[in-house]
Amino acid sequence: MTLVDQARAVRENAHAPYSNFKVGAAIRTASGAVFTGCNVENVAYPEGTCAEAGAIAAMCAAGEREIVEVAVIADSPTPVPPCGGCRQKLAEFAGSQVPVLMATTEGADLTLTVGELLPGAFGAGHMEKS
Ligand code: THU
Repeated sequence: MTLVDQARAVRENAHAPYSNFKVGAAIRTASGAVFTGCNVENVAYPEGTCAEAGAIAAMCAAGEREIVEVAVIADSPTPVPPCGGCRQKLAEFAGSQVPVLMATTEGADLTLTVGELLPGAFGAGHMEKS
């Protein structure tokens, strides 16, 4: 199964009764393993979590830290982009050249790199002053 197909499959498990907007994410790591996540909303709205955050948590729980490829999918009119917070979360574990494939359930897709999605990213270097 392709990475986007794995994102499409996990999307079915999203818990999105408030937005009715189900999202699926799949990330491949340097080892070749794939971790998936879906959005999990909460009646206390700010407590909801994004699909990408779920996939990243699963990756870390498995002891992995290096993302080499990302796919995100939703039933959106245009390929769904990760939210701002998720761009920062991805940048924690993915180099700026890592491709992020954004897809619609109807088959459209667009690929941008992590660096293109988060130009000028805040990084560890910004906390260093000699
Ligand atoms: N959502 C994601 O899961 N990932 C994104 O990057 C965009 C937004 C979810 C959060 C919320 O459950 C729903 O989509 C509507 O914002």
